[in-house]
Amino acid sequence: MSNIVDLMLKDHLRLLSLLTRLERTNEKDVNLKYNKFETFKWEVEKHFFLEEKTIFSKFSTKKEGVKIYNLYIELVKQHEKILNLLDEIKKQIMQGFEPDIIRIRDLLINHQKFEEKLIYPKLDEELDENEKIKILNRIEGIIQI
Ligand SMILES: [Fe+2]
Ligand SMILES: [Fe+2]
Repeated sequence: MSNIVDLMLKDHLRLLSLLTRLERTNEKDVNLKYNKFETFKWEVEKHFFLEEKTIFSKFSTKKEGVKIYNLYIELVKQHEKILNLLDEIKKQIMQGFEPDIIRIRDLLINHQKFEEKLIYPKLDEELDENEKIKILNRIEGIIQI
């Protein structure tokens, strides 16, 4: 059986490769470029949704400890920052400007490192087998990796 961390780390790489695909597009056509951007944004949103609503939702109250709760709050803040930047990038593309891919890549990579070092390793300690199975089913229902 696959595990949560492996699947989500694979998804981190997949998101970065979608971003590279957007960056390499030479489309002068705004609509074509926008389509690639939309695909990337949709996949990022699904990934964040899974993390906030199921994978780490147990940590969204202080019940599991203040330390892990603070990490969860930081994670949500970073998600918001990335989504706000995606809104800016959407405007840049629509107005025919070159999107600020370097900035979004930096934010995304730092965010992924934060999760991989500080949050994902906690899952094994904090979740029981039933919770893990429930989360795995939800991941597999939302993203195809
Ligand atoms: Fe995340
Ligand atoms: Fe993530």
